[in-house]
Amino acid sequence: MNQPGRLPRTTRPRRYELLIATDLDASTFSGEVVIALEMTEPTETIVLHSKGLDVVLASLSQGGAPVAADLRIDAEREHIVITAHRALLAGDAVLELQFDGSISPGLLGFYRSTYLDEAGARRVLAATQFEAPHARAAFPCFDEPEFKAIFAITLVVADGMLALSNGPEIDREKLPDGNVRVRFGTTIPMSTYLVAWVVGPLEVTEPVYAGGVAVRVAHVPGRGHLTQFALDVGAFAIEFFADYYGIAYPGTKCDLVALPDFSFGAMENLGCVTFRETRLLVDPDAATLDELSGAALTIVHEIAHMWFGDLVTMKWWNGIWLNEAFATFMEHLGIDAYKPEWKTWDEFALGRAAALDVDALENTRTVEYEVVTPEDADGMFDILTYQKGGSVLRMLERWLGADAFRAGVRHYLSRYQLANTETTDLWDALEEATGKPVRRIMDTWIFQRGFPTVCVDEGRLEQRRFSYASTGHDEQWVLPVLARVHTGEGAETRSLLFDADTVPLDVPDGALVVLNAGGDGFYRVAYPTAWRDRLLDARVLEPLERFALVDDLWASVLADDATATEFLDCARRFAEETDPIVWRVVIGHLRAAARLVAGDALDHMRAEIAAIVRPAMRRLGWDAHLDDERTRQLRGLFVNVLGSTTFDPETIARAREVYEHPEGADADVQAAAIAVVAGNGTADDFERFLARSEETVNPQEQLRYLYSLGDFPSEALVLRAAERALSDEIRAQNGPFVIQRALRNREHGPVVWAFVRDNWERALRRFSPSMIPRLIEGTTWLVEGRVPDDVMAFVTAHPVAAGARTIAQHMERLAVHRAAVARERERFSASLLNAHAP
Ligand code: BES
Ligand code: ZN
Repeated sequence: MNQPGRLPRTTRPRRYELLIATDLDASTFSGEVVIALEMTEPTETIVLHSKGLDVVLASLSQGGAPVAADLRIDAEREHIVITAHRALLAGDAVLELQFDGSISPGLLGFYRSTYLDEAGARRVLAATQFEAPHARAAFPCFDEPEFKAIFAITLVVADGMLALSNGPEIDREKLPDGNVRVRFGTTIPMSTYLVAWVVGPLEVTEPVYAGGVAVRVAHVPGRGHLTQFALDVGAFAIEFFADYYGIAYPGTKCDLVALPDFSFGAMENLGCVTFRETRLLVDPDAATLDELSGAALTIVHEIAHMWFGDLVTMKWWNGIWLNEAFATFMEHLGIDAYKPEWKTWDEFALGRAAALDVDALENTRTVEYEVVTPEDADGMFDILTYQKGGSVLRMLERWLGADAFRAGVRHYLSRYQLANTETTDLWDALEEATGKPVRRIMDTWIFQRGFPTVCVDEGRLEQRRFSYASTGHDEQWVLPVLARVHTGEGAETRSLLFDADTVPLDVPDGALVVLNAGGDGFYRVAYPTAWRDRLLDARVLEPLERFALVDDLWASVLADDATATEFLDCARRFAEETDPIVWRVVIGHLRAAARLVAGDALDHMRAEIAAIVRPAMRRLGWDAHLDDERTRQLRGLFVNVLGSTTFDPETIARAREVYEHPEGADADVQAAAIAVVAGNGTADDFERFLARSEETVNPQEQLRYLYSLGDFPSEALVLRAAERALSDEIRAQNGPFVIQRALRNREHGPVVWAFVRDNWERALRRFSPSMIPRLIEGTTWLVEGRVPDDVMAFVTAHPVAAGARTIAQHMERLAVHRAAVARERERFSASLLNAHAP
């Protein structure tokens, strides 16, 4: 059965013997591949993928006898077509191809990366990134996830280079020309997008063992002291998942490779996981909790994929969302076991909030959709896949119960190991394990855009789509609802399935009802004001419930269902708050609310924020050494908001002291101090930031300096930051984020926008297409005067194929913000100016 854009199913690869000979100096490679094939029916043609390679047919044979054939390249389809002179019979055949290619200067396929060594000399390495779908740019192959095969890989590299691939090294031989031939053990049958190799002047740690699995970290020289944490998390994750899934790790080793240039955060190549340096190499004593948990979550995420994704794989790219959503869910489950004190499920709420925010837009999408082209697949790697997908899985897990959910997952993995699946296979496995209507529930979250808001009217629950645009929608969701009822006698949590227009909620008179109990639902709750106040007064809400309440209220400000003044009144009630996650959402939205006003009203708003935060900061004090990690993180947030949003002189002065004398200061305070100094910094500071971002070997510290370049209070400096982000002085992997931050600069965002617009072609040349939406993301608060019209017109006139939907979402968000400013500027300003100065 042929489907458009897919390879015919008449030929299946069983095993690839792949040899890649690299020449890093010339930036080229040459290869040979012998593919053992199974013909499912008699055929004359074999079609496989190849992109940008010079390929010649070495031989085609069946039953040991050569079969004459021709090879034709179909560059547009990224195919090569082999036509045999006589029909091949059903059964085994062997195809042998030779090819040459260039190592890509970009970040996909087989690509080049460089670093400066300790003597200041530029060193070159090369690595692969094949998802999705770029294996075809490195070797001719059947580059679709369903074509699983065994890989036996051999690399020829210059002497002294580290060479890694999916399998363990099993043989090494010095060749007459001085190069070395390294052979790797065979893999399990797996998809082409998971194949990987890395070659270069890198070092690798001694292994640590997780059960029988050898875990190592590879890195550029001079960073060995930053590997201990990753080894520890990696080993933990392998044992944790072997136990959770009830299946042994599918291999004998797991290398974690830190690459100086990397397009994404990390990639789950089986046994050879690649990372951006910041997500792997970390000094736990010098990192903020965000930096440390960010690395840990990334490592756990990729290791979760070794089973879910690598051992069991989607049939086609429409299933990427489940692959990624599940790993996102699992990264938190794993970290919750690794460091319960980090309360990572609380942290998860930030991602859920971000997904709710996108999913309230008209330009949202269904989580799953039909994928035909590679661009369709690229468009899936976004917040709706990761955060909405992960959140609806979390909602389901909470509703089914952790053990029942795990039983379903085990059932699914053991049934489909080494094979491929459809999304519904997981729902069916969960249904079988639990007896609950999982498919019916999940279909409404996956195949319907958006999410509902739940409200209560005369003792009945009602749902309607939550949308900023509030155009008519009449979708219904099948909601797994948890509700908690507080009465004089105590509290009782009810689990119900809300699958009709309305359902009755029978509660005794005077009871307090918490909807979305636990705060893990992917929906909002519209409490009447009095009800919300009673819940807060009675102090019955858990931290994530308070989080949801605050987040829902701010969303209703953006949706024109509440006013900014109501939000500020509610925020004031949190001055006594002690939980870090609640502070995160309160402060985040107070900062957004400050964007609604300008001039004197803005000064008043800053004073309001300071009045809410300062007492809490006083309670914490500056001395961190007895605090747990979350309290330290909270202090960092307070320092940041007081120093760079409210411009509190005392905080600025102390931040500068920490910046001048960081020795012994807490990491979260140090990181916040850097941001505060940037926001109040001079030209000299800017030079020091540049120097430090280049000198430090600590990847997270480097980013602290780099990303805050855009925060400086001078137009000239912010423009220098943007200019530098387009030059090769800042790695292309980081440049878009530097510009994003500069666009967010409250004073100078508009001139940064003008710079971006005038240098658009340079940006397109410098950054990989998937990064352009990241850059545009910085424009969502450019609400003043004609700037938003200019942004929208320019973006419309310069469409980009990759991430077009994400960019449309950013533009819509800009419009939502502009509308909020139009509604609120006058009335919110008036209410701020009338409130007596705090
Ligand atoms: N499979 C992805 C990497 C990827 C992303 C490949 C987009 C191709 C296109 C990997 O498992 C992943 O999800 N990486 C995340 C980090 C993770 C911690 C969320 C990433 O790169 O951002
Ligand atoms: Zn992933």
